[in-house]
Amino acid sequence: MTIFKKEKLHIETWGCQMNVADSEQAASLLSDKYELCEEASEADLIILNTCHIREKAYHKVTSRLGVLANFKKKNPDLVIAVAGCSAQAEGKKLLKNKNVDLLVGPGRIKEISTLVEAAKGSNKKISALGFPKQELTEEENELDKISYPTLSEERNEISRFVTIQQGCDNYCTFCIVPFTRGREISMSPLAVYNQAKAFVEAGAKEITLLGQNVNSYGLDLVKADKLKASKEGPFADLLRLVASLPGLKSLRFTTSNPHDFTKPIADLFQEHPLLGKYLHLPVQSGSNQVLELMKRKVTREEFLERVTWLKEACPEITLSTDLIVGFPGETEENFEETLSLVAQVRFAFAYAFKYSPRTHTPAARYKTQVPEEVKTDRLRRLNELLDQITLEENEKELGKTRKVLFLYKSKKDGGVYCGRSEQFKLVKVPAGRDLTGEQLEVKITKATKTALEGILV
Ligand code: SAH
Ligand code: F3S
Repeated sequence: MTIFKKEKLHIETWGCQMNVADSEQAASLLSDKYELCEEASEADLIILNTCHIREKAYHKVTSRLGVLANFKKKNPDLVIAVAGCSAQAEGKKLLKNKNVDLLVGPGRIKEISTLVEAAKGSNKKISALGFPKQELTEEENELDKISYPTLSEERNEISRFVTIQQGCDNYCTFCIVPFTRGREISMSPLAVYNQAKAFVEAGAKEITLLGQNVNSYGLDLVKADKLKASKEGPFADLLRLVASLPGLKSLRFTTSNPHDFTKPIADLFQEHPLLGKYLHLPVQSGSNQVLELMKRKVTREEFLERVTWLKEACPEITLSTDLIVGFPGETEENFEETLSLVAQVRFAFAYAFKYSPRTHTPAARYKTQVPEEVKTDRLRRLNELLDQITLEENEKELGKTRKVLFLYKSKKDGGVYCGRSEQFKLVKVPAGRDLTGEQLEVKITKATKTALEGILV
């Protein structure tokens, strides 16, 4: 009897949750022949799943490739694949890099098994970029629904991502995503439901629906006459459908673009306890002048109106956001409007970035670029304010009792279980038994900027 030994696969994932979901899917599709390994030096196949959102992200890819080149000396059969948004955007340049064997764009990740086989059997480089025109059939969507391995501490069988939509049609003037991930294509509600159901049957308690622009989910299907939606719209219909899954304890979704975030979606937070009390709603800037230049299609006032809808539906809701400083043309006064918006909304936390010019995007060609040192200074001031608010908001949790879904056991602190409250705050609780997968009431006893601590009640 010959025993078939699996080869070793090492995956490094940068960037957004969609990349994490793609990495999980790639690992799943390759799981017949490969098992995951933590050390790149031991791998037979390395996948770098890359990000291209800011310039730094691409530099990281090239420097990492330099390090990985050493492992090829030891293992000449090692296959190095570059996937993700840098593969799509910098394909030509990356193919010239002698250490790259395979390029896979985000639109082609489902073909990873065939592509790896082709790369192994050839000394030519393989490149699979671009976007297939056709949406996958229900059967193809179901192929890989279950054997998803765990890629990190917090990403495990308890909390799963389900991609509901590829690409983005918004063309915000700073953003490379429409170029690296292509047009908006929605998966069918049945495919989404089946994937979520399979995860729940395999032990998932939380599902996060993913897309660049989830609120416009399904509008393409309605337009093509492939889907009939209620008057609340296809995304609200989808949320109701997935929320009906027996056994599911938490349903989240991201990214929610304020542009097509509607009142019926906000109202679902009142109706559906599964949706929790948290939403990530990227605003980018507090200045109407800058928002207009960014082509965000939503004014400061319209953003605040959405916040009001959400607070009316769910008074205890917490919000997080994305912010860009130093967008071309941003004046000191414009920047201060961002500070004032942050102070007004009091986001639970926010990701703040310096504007980074990206090839192909209109804003990169604007003549009014802001000097680097001004961007650095604004980022520092913004982060100071954000940190202060995050800490103050976390301290308000002290003494409260919160419902926490436990997701994993801390590797660092033995006997400590980590979960998220409905408000999406990280909560750490010591316990003598395994709490993972349970949703329990916790009294908050300690608050820092990054986490809460508590005891079971
Ligand atoms: N689909 C999401 C955003 C995806 S990109 C949305 O609707 O907003 C994630 C975040 O990266 C953005 O929200 C933005 O804050 C930041 N970002 C995108 N392009 C950027 C650039 N060129 N420079 C700096 N930050 C950028
Ligand atoms: Fe980018 Fe705007 Fe789409 S930020 S992902 S173009 S909504």
